[in-house]
Amino acid sequence: MLNTKWLETELASESSGTAWEQFHECSKTGHYDIGLPTERVVEEMNGLYESLPYRNLASIALPDALAPVERGFAETVLGRITPSAIRPVSISLLALRTILHFAYGLTRDNHDNAHIHRAFRSVPSGGALYPLELYFYHSGFVEGLPPGIFHYSPEANALHQVSSGNCDDQLSRALVEFQRDLPSKLSVTIFITALFNRSVFKYRDKGYRFTLLEAGHVAQNINLGATALGLGVINLGGFHDRLIDDMLGLDGLNHSILYLNGLCARDDDDARG
Ligand SMILES: Cc1cc2nc3c(=O)[nH]c(=O)nc-3n(C[C@H](O)[C@H](O)[C@H](O)COP(=O)(O)O)c2cc1C
Repeated sequence: MLNTKWLETELASESSGTAWEQFHECSKTGHYDIGLPTERVVEEMNGLYESLPYRNLASIALPDALAPVERGFAETVLGRITPSAIRPVSISLLALRTILHFAYGLTRDNHDNAHIHRAFRSVPSGGALYPLELYFYHSGFVEGLPPGIFHYSPEANALHQVSSGNCDDQLSRALVEFQRDLPSKLSVTIFITALFNRSVFKYRDKGYRFTLLEAGHVAQNINLGATALGLGVINLGGFHDRLIDDMLGLDGLNHSILYLNGLCARDDDDARG
């Protein structure tokens, strides 16, 4: 069915309009779209890493256990708030591991499936393709971890340190001007990135939308996980994408930053991380 709103716009006749309007229209699933054959999907899926391997980097094991969650569901959902004053607080490795696991951890295997062996995660994913990766930066607030940028490997429950040392200045330059003071106030900055082809090979342009939707699922799990553990959390969209990609060593096209979450103290000063 043709969308009358679309026909009313200049776009229909003049191929003008903003990028988002063009993209939104062009990425709609059409009635006559033909999906990839199942064998091709299976072949592609079995060629995907669970997460980027970083084989040249030493693996840092995370604790096996999860931190006890003391807040109930309603209290957690309703208690999620962006703190009015952002300030850092010390965070245990156990609390950080718990938040990362809630965000994108493996929750069940796929051994019943004879063809596909990719495990399932804490968040839903279109086609169970899991196009996202997680990195984080801290300048010294995570107990037992040297300052630097780390990549999270959910399948190994481990980290890879992709760069070391204090990057507050670099992160500050990558944020939009009004919030350049944030890096020194955050305990941890989590970066949600996407390897777009993991979804786009199957869903084409709609797959790009899926990566954005899925980043929202991950971000909300970070929000709720942090809140449930008594930490503050802030969502950040005000950053210069290319500068964050440079920080993380991403090419910016196949693999790029989508979203940032900062962990900090709660306003009411009851952080129990
Ligand atoms: C996509 C998105 C991007 C955001 N970017 C920023 C940001 O760059 N800086 C900031 O201070 N807050 C940012 N926020 C937080 C919002 O300002 C905040 O969620 C909003 O004011 C509602 O307040 P609450 O989080 O306390 O409910 C962002 C939130 C979302 C969902």
